[in-house]
Amino acid sequence: MTNNVVRYKQWISKEQRSAQKRQKPCIIWFTGLSGAGKSTLASALEQKLFELNHHTYLLDGDNLRHGLNKDLGFSDADRQENIRRIGELAALFVDAGLLVLAAFISPFRAERRMVRELVGPGEFIEIYVATPLSTCEQRDPKGLYKKARAGEIRNFTGIDSEYEAPANPELVVDTSVQTLDQSVDQIAAFLKARSILKEA
Ligand code: ADX
Repeated sequence: MTNNVVRYKQWISKEQRSAQKRQKPCIIWFTGLSGAGKSTLASALEQKLFELNHHTYLLDGDNLRHGLNKDLGFSDADRQENIRRIGELAALFVDAGLLVLAAFISPFRAERRMVRELVGPGEFIEIYVATPLSTCEQRDPKGLYKKARAGEIRNFTGIDSEYEAPANPELVVDTSVQTLDQSVDQIAAFLKARSILKEA
């Protein structure tokens, strides 16, 4: 399909775009069960990054599934395609020089690794939001666990669809034992150590 398509050489490089923004672009990828706190964390972190004058962009499963990925469901194949598209999108934003925050269940190791390999070394930061299933189910903010237990939703992650926990994430956050501020500070400290975070 892509045989007759030749890549067009872009004149402005990622390095130039990043230098203009005075930041090191990367993907900050949140993975974990539904209700683990991925979106809340990503959004609070984005707020902090924005206040430090970073140019950011937040990609979120619930939102993208209303647009770009509205043709996809929750079969394994559709989830793989969901993450493949998000990965390509996130990599383009990195090329644009941005700090990209991505909050997706992204249940399979293979697709998360695929996204990691789309960007340069150190540009993919995997944050495992390891909130236990019992806590997610207790929270059940959208009432989806209740429906899944009742058999009204099929292929629900953690119930009748698998979640493969990351083997070597850059960070692990458990929102059942730490506050939102603690988690955001933990991530910010990591980004600072990696010289990604701008000084206040
Ligand atoms: S992913 O598995 O393909 O990465 P994604 O993060 O885009 O999932 O979307 C997850 C969101 O879709 C959940 O937060 C939840 O609100 C909703 N959802 C609807 N059906 C399911 C399901 N069967 N499994 C998991 N999440 C579901």
